Amino acid sequence: MTGKKPCVLLIEPIPSWIVDRARDEFDLIVLQHESERPAEFTDRLDQIRGIAMPGFAKVDADLMAMLPNLEIVACFGVGYDGADVDYAIKRGIAVTNTPDVLTDCVADLGMALTLAVLRKVVEGDRYVRAGRWITDGILDLSASPRGRCLGIVGLGRIGLALANRAEAFGMTIAYYNRSPRDDVDYPYFASAQELAAASDVLALTCPGGEATRNLINADVLSALGAKGHLVNIARGSVVDEAALVAALTANSIAGAGLDVFADEPNVPDALLPFENVVLQPHHASATYETRTAMGNLTIDNLAAQFAGAPLPNKVA
Ligand code: 8YV
Repeated sequence: MTGKKPCVLLIEPIPSWIVDRARDEFDLIVLQHESERPAEFTDRLDQIRGIAMPGFAKVDADLMAMLPNLEIVACFGVGYDGADVDYAIKRGIAVTNTPDVLTDCVADLGMALTLAVLRKVVEGDRYVRAGRWITDGILDLSASPRGRCLGIVGLGRIGLALANRAEAFGMTIAYYNRSPRDDVDYPYFASAQELAAASDVLALTCPGGEATRNLINADVLSALGAKGHLVNIARGSVVDEAALVAALTANSIAGAGLDVFADEPNVPDALLPFENVVLQPHHASATYETRTAMGNLTIDNLAAQFAGAPLPNKVA
């Protein structure tokens, strides 16, 4: 190879200072969305050797098939459900992600949502701003986390970090995974529905993708029950949103804290009126520190590929 920079397709949103750093190292083509087809992209399809993308962007077989010299898809995020991994494996295209560096921040937001729904933090804020403390008196009492059970769907790195935080607030922990872990003493349940029945707060920290699509359905929500809260920091696809709206409408669950949605950034209108639902714009990992570390790792993985070095975070 000459000293020419490797050509990389970067799909937004990625923080601007990471894009600048990537531009120093790579010959960058930037798309605001994976569906765009500007000439600067379509004229250079055979030059593109790498893709940098948020893990939820749709980098499917059709897009990868347009790029005959693609070597690596580097996901900016721990989740890589947007990439067609099976197709990448068939073509010998590497897929990488950014684990570990975001674990703490994502678990922090999971705990923040747990406290927000139990302690009515956002509802209380709206109550004060609307002058209702004066007109209506004290806000309805909230629920203490202490002694309540946090059921974790997907006890991986983020789930464990959330469990540690919840224990500091006096919560007990239980979990559902595809198989039990042998390194924790938390009670294991063989299905999401059985876990929900035993939980006061059901927190989702599992991967997205087809294996978990609509895992949290009407039956699971019904098992969670009228005193149970749902917290989702995983992927919107894990929850049947219509079933969630129906459960909230029927007061058959107590509330929900949601950072992720099936069709982001479109949040179902039906969720907006609920006082007992806390909504966030998919920003669990979105601190300056964590997004910088994620961006650096994404670039490190691309650079390693082009240098023929072992990839730091290869998932496929
Ligand atoms: C990011 C995420 O929001 O890591 C993930 O899987 O969903 C988040 O950390 C996203 O990947 C960055 O755009």
